[in-house]
Amino acid sequence: MKGIILSGGSGSRLAPLTKVTSKQLLPIYNKPMIFYPLETLLKAGIKDILIIVSPDRAGDYLRLLGSGKDFGARFAYEIQDKPEGLAQAFIIGENFIGEDNVCMILGDNIFEDDFSQAISSFKSGGMIFAKQVSDPERSGVVVFDKNMKALKIVEKPKEHLSDYAIPGLYIYDNRVIEAAKQVKPSARGELEITDLHNWYLEKGELQVDIVKGEWIDAGTFESLFKATELARKKSQKQ
Ligand code: DAU
Repeated sequence: MKGIILSGGSGSRLAPLTKVTSKQLLPIYNKPMIFYPLETLLKAGIKDILIIVSPDRAGDYLRLLGSGKDFGARFAYEIQDKPEGLAQAFIIGENFIGEDNVCMILGDNIFEDDFSQAISSFKSGGMIFAKQVSDPERSGVVVFDKNMKALKIVEKPKEHLSDYAIPGLYIYDNRVIEAAKQVKPSARGELEITDLHNWYLEKGELQVDIVKGEWIDAGTFESLFKATELARKKSQKQ
């Protein structure tokens, strides 16, 4: 299993902080934000990690993370010239992924859960996660039937469809590269990750598991603050 951390984008919602550096390098308590998704992958046993960054911040990432040796891992880097969508990561990462399966995590997503079991038991298809939240319209959502079978996945629905948001950690088999190449830009001009989930869902090959612990998408001032509070609490407990 290869790993990808998608850490590009403009971070405009966090301006002026993101005039200094990339959103995913901003501090969450005592560490840069990207350390949290990185630790999620490392803890799950993933050691080959591609970090996708925007061109103007690439130097900051190299300085901070380097070859990966300090983390007992191997890091590769790719530039995403423009934030043209999450699914583009699998096209940019084609050579890096090679023949393997891949787990992608978003550079601003912070999880408490340990995904080792999910990753080591993964065989084929797609595996995504769901978390009950109070503001699902900020995210992609999944609609379940009464047996918790996934029926439908929609990116930021306008009306309320479900309480279950889809956090930014996705496990796919190697076919995701071909699937990503088939995705057409959405109305907002992005290659949507939800089109990839639906590609697997339509084939009956998408597994959706529940995230039990905290999940924070640290993309707003409020969630950045919440993530800092959580990290501080955990660090003090330790
Ligand atoms: O956080 C989970 C949600 O992430 C999912 O539920 C949604 O389905 C998914 O579309 C995404 O929604 P967001 O509104 O959070 O996406 P955002 O544009 O904020 O991008 C998420 C992260 O990925 C962010 O750290 C920036 C980075 N990014 C984004 C785009 C569009 C890139 O590196 N490249 C890109 O092209």
